[in-house]
Amino acid sequence: MTTTNSSATRHIVTLQAHALAHQAQHPDASGTFSWILSAVAGSAKRIAAAVRRARLEDVLGSAGETNVQGETQQKLDVIANEILLQTLSEREGVAVIASEENEEPVLLRVEDDGQSRYCVLFDPLDGSSNLDICGSVGTIFSILSKDAATPAADAILQPGKRQVAAGYVLYGSSTVMVLTIGSGVDMFVLDPSIGAFVRVAQGLRIPPTNKCYSLNEANRRTFPEGYQKYLDWAQSNGYSSRYVGAMVGDVHRVLLQGGVFMYPPTAKAPKGKLRLMYEANPMAMLVEQAGGKALAAPGQRILDVQPEAVHQRCSVILGSSAEVDAVVAQLAG
Ligand code: AHG
Ligand code: MN
Ligand code: MN
Repeated sequence: MTTTNSSATRHIVTLQAHALAHQAQHPDASGTFSWILSAVAGSAKRIAAAVRRARLEDVLGSAGETNVQGETQQKLDVIANEILLQTLSEREGVAVIASEENEEPVLLRVEDDGQSRYCVLFDPLDGSSNLDICGSVGTIFSILSKDAATPAADAILQPGKRQVAAGYVLYGSSTVMVLTIGSGVDMFVLDPSIGAFVRVAQGLRIPPTNKCYSLNEANRRTFPEGYQKYLDWAQSNGYSSRYVGAMVGDVHRVLLQGGVFMYPPTAKAPKGKLRLMYEANPMAMLVEQAGGKALAAPGQRILDVQPEAVHQRCSVILGSSAEVDAVVAQLAG
């Protein structure tokens, strides 16, 4: 047989093939989950296209509304949210959708008809204030399962350790999806020439250490004292600082290169700024699945926090194990 070295004939694994291979390992799986993942991927392709054309289509800037968090909605926050809501609500396997941009969860199929389904929670566009300057933005998602008999509110308010899958899509210099389906972390890049996410890394491991911290240092004066001590310690020990200002961009760097990402309590956001259910939980699952740590406070895993409200906030310390330990040492000392 003649073989070629051409990239056109190279063996690739698409996200769809990856999901089907995962499904094949679970003989009782109905395919519902793979179908939901394909809706997330399809939405991400549309959002990526909208983000890339934003300046051309004149959809940058504020939509003139504030969301439930009291934050100004960008036009693209609204567009990304509509794309995800529309695509996911067509999937028979989705029971409930919760979004940063919707005050209440959307109840789609919550009657007790004996069918198990899923709850999908997302931040449709993370870091949207970066849009106007052509900076990195992303989508973050979390998937929980729901038995037919479980009321919607209980199914949504499960701790992060019950997530069946979590991931993010980074709309950066390329469009990257990082995903866990509960055992390890895999990375996919959107190949626009074939319109598919192609697997580029399997079993990602976060480097155990890297002298780099990522947080909004302008808030330093109102951080609890331990964080200020950590910054003094890090700065006397040759650390570097990197901050994109979009959680997806910052966590992606930490996942690939190591370091620690934090959003501590501040005077303005005494419980932290980031949202537990669709920012902290999915990122914590990815980081732990990649061998790192993700804490809300010393001794408190983010994934163990029992949620009380869909939009509740949570303090975040996540990244390389040794770097998270270094923060905890200063907080405790
Ligand atoms: P969103 O755009 O979804 O509201 O999220 C913005 C978040 C997060 O992406 C980022 O880590 C953080 O806000 C940055 O906050 P500061 O501007 O306060 O540093
Ligand atoms: Mn966000
Ligand atoms: Mn957002």
